[in-house]
Amino acid sequence: MKKIIITIDGYSSCGKSTLAKKIAKDLNYVFVDSGAMYRAVTHYFLKNNIDWTKTDQVIDAIKHISLQFEYNAQNGTSDILLNGENVEAAIREMVVNENVSEVAAIKEVREFTVAEQQKNSIEKGIVMDGRDIGTVVFPDAELKIFLTASPEVRVERRYQQLLAQGKQVTREEVRINNEKRDYIDTHREISPLRKAIDAIEIDNTNLTTDEQEKLLLDMAYEKILNN
Ligand code: CDP
Repeated sequence: MKKIIITIDGYSSCGKSTLAKKIAKDLNYVFVDSGAMYRAVTHYFLKNNIDWTKTDQVIDAIKHISLQFEYNAQNGTSDILLNGENVEAAIREMVVNENVSEVAAIKEVREFTVAEQQKNSIEKGIVMDGRDIGTVVFPDAELKIFLTASPEVRVERRYQQLLAQGKQVTREEVRINNEKRDYIDTHREISPLRKAIDAIEIDNTNLTTDEQEKLLLDMAYEKILNN
């Protein structure tokens, strides 16, 4: 069967990765969490006291970063490795949430991560989620989704997710962080978050994960069978 590229872009905490993981599993495709790559770079910068306002420090630091994804048999998805170390848990900490959008706005960082992401396109059969996947990383993707949800629902989903991970966080902190990231992500100079003209918008405020999965799977099969 023909293989396609599916991109899922959207604001923070609207369930992009959850949906992308499900679809990738259903289609037996590779799932790539592009946000995890920006998070891993941010984690590296924080750990190594890199001043990311200084271009020379950024350029030098990037030379020492290698990112890979490793299959996690426990949950059937993949974990990110930073220089061979599994940092999947560390990159979800609030300190990373607080700094990642600033780091992701840096030109040299994006050049590095986008090049890594595009390596995946050599073979199709990919579901990748992020902010600029349908606009910049894979502008020719066969199926592009722009996922949205109400701000309240997004705060609640991320709050519950962090709570389940045992994190000490308030709804207000999550709300402030989501708003700050969305602002930076939509206003940055390079590859700002926006809906690709040929993306299909799905508002999942009132949809269950199963309903979204079915909707997207129908769209994917339509593309796979009729293109
Ligand atoms: O928290 P959420 O799952 O919504 O975010 P994420 O997908 O893990 O991405 C974390 C941050 O990385 C975003 O807020 C963006 O600043 C940045 N990002 C980006 O700039 N471009 C991407 N393709 C993916 C993420």
